[in-house]
Amino acid sequence: MGKIRKVVIPAAGLGTRLYPLTRGQPKEMLPIVDKPVIHYVVEEAVKAGIEEILIIIGRGKESVINYFDSNNFDSNLDREYGFDKFPEIFFVRQKEPKGLADAINCARGFVGEEPFLVLLGDTIYTTQSKDAVAKQLVKAFESKDAPIIAVEKIGQSEIKYYGIIDGKKVSDRLWLIKDAVEKPDPKDAPSNMGIAGAYVLTSDIFNYIDRLSKGKNGEYQLTDALKAMAKETEVYGYEFEGRRYDIGTKERWIDAFIEFAKGDKKFHSK
Ligand code: G1P
Repeated sequence: MGKIRKVVIPAAGLGTRLYPLTRGQPKEMLPIVDKPVIHYVVEEAVKAGIEEILIIIGRGKESVINYFDSNNFDSNLDREYGFDKFPEIFFVRQKEPKGLADAINCARGFVGEEPFLVLLGDTIYTTQSKDAVAKQLVKAFESKDAPIIAVEKIGQSEIKYYGIIDGKKVSDRLWLIKDAVEKPDPKDAPSNMGIAGAYVLTSDIFNYIDRLSKGKNGEYQLTDALKAMAKETEVYGYEFEGRRYDIGTKERWIDAFIEFAKGDKKFHSK
């Protein structure tokens, strides 16, 4: 089993639920206190020991590329803003918004045969654990040597926004996944355990992506590829220790901004 050295960060989604905020800027560039969302995602990857980053962008996401230009980072700033060593970042463009599985497929050349981490470009985490959420997932992958995805309990009214798994709980935080369904009607959901924006995948996933037909909302869904994979091989869900902020809606973005501001002493009056 190889070390997880690479992360793929899909950041090509349209951000329609954040209009008009995202008419002229990508949701990944919305500020959370004093950094854009994508900065936190890259920090999360670095905390998991990642050395190489591929960000998948689409139309209108050029500011994400500009943000990571190296001349924007002097070494003090790197440290002040969370990077000891600035990771290698590459970009690839998804030509059309055809779904998360199609976006991941754009990473095929970058990934090669290695297992890799996937962190969604609009999802950030906090944790009280000594290990960042992505690190927890990488460790869980190392212990099982099988694909593993972050999962968490989802409230009934939110189930329609998530991939939902069906499986068997095999230990404190681990689920053996038997099935998965993308954004089900709550009455048809197999459980309340939702896919929570972080994955460690093996390059086998591309074989399942190749066989996909269009799924929910006419898009190629990663959840459908994982479902097919789980029918043939072990795929695990991992209940991480921490809190997830999905910056997909205005409410969540505001919630994240307030929580991060409260947690950042720089912005507290003396
Ligand atoms: C994606 C995935 C979904 C997952 C969710 C987590 O959906 O397709 O399975 O539960 O991210 O945020 P999206 O939010 O891109 O619609």
